Amino acid sequence: MPNPKTRIADAWYRFRTRRRLARNEWSGDYWYERDGERIVPCRQCPKVDARRERCGVPFGSPLRKCVTAATEAHLRATRGVLALEIGSHKRSFAKLVVEQAGGSWTGIEPQAPRIAPRMGGENYGHAGEIPFPAEAFDIAFAIQSFEHWEEPLPSVERSPSYRECLAEIWRVLKPGGSLYVDAPIHLHGHEMFVAGDVPRILALFDGALWKDVVVERWRYDHAPLSRYPAPAVDAEGALTTLETYAIDAIRELQRTATVWLLTITAVKRTPTVG
Ligand SMILES: C[S@@+](CC[C@H](N)C(=O)[O-])C[C@H]1O[C@@H](n2cnc3c(N)ncnc32)[C@H](O)[C@@H]1O
Repeated sequence: MPNPKTRIADAWYRFRTRRRLARNEWSGDYWYERDGERIVPCRQCPKVDARRERCGVPFGSPLRKCVTAATEAHLRATRGVLALEIGSHKRSFAKLVVEQAGGSWTGIEPQAPRIAPRMGGENYGHAGEIPFPAEAFDIAFAIQSFEHWEEPLPSVERSPSYRECLAEIWRVLKPGGSLYVDAPIHLHGHEMFVAGDVPRILALFDGALWKDVVVERWRYDHAPLSRYPAPAVDAEGALTTLETYAIDAIRELQRTATVWLLTITAVKRTPTVG
């Protein structure tokens, strides 16, 4: 349970979202390129006060602060856009960003009650079973949900595979629509996220369906902020997901690496006729 000071800071930060978006703190270069990926170093992140060695997002774990920052950076330009959040849970910060930016937000969540789907609200749904027609959305996004998509759920008889989920998301995007996902690395979820196996994660994006795939690493180059080790409970739980990686190699990563945030954006490729 957050303490009253954190709750007030959280509420104040949310309250000022529209003003913050209008300030456009993401207009400068806040990343550098390395091996075809964007590295967002904390020292270049507009949220970080490098002199005081602190992140200006006033709530959440070190990773959640990055999730908040990356959500603003990626969803700030959603004015007039029909956006679908996959795994919307309660009290979505991304919903606030989309709505404050002037977009329209619809959520799907496998823990929500199964009622008739409605654009503009939260609905029952799964990344592999989206209760909306083809080409309904300009953008689809998933915040801290991507790493869980294949996990068993009480509401689903057989969890669809990652490839099935990505094909289903492709279906509901308009031609040229885009997908944004984020996921923690070395924390929890499917073993490829625990191992930080970015090539394996990227291989899920079928080149016949997706183009312009962009990878960002947030908090990977974490100076001047300190390393964020996986909390003990996550670290132990993550080891139980391993099927193909050696447990000792993952233990070593947990001992030495920092938990960081992977973001991926991709654009729907539409087949060319003729
Ligand atoms: C850690 S919560 C994140 C919730 C919210 N997006 C946030 O950032 O606070 C992960 C959410 O993803 C949902 N989820 C898990 N598997 C899913 C799937 N296959 N399709 C859609 N949502 C899923 C879970 O039910 C849960 O609400």
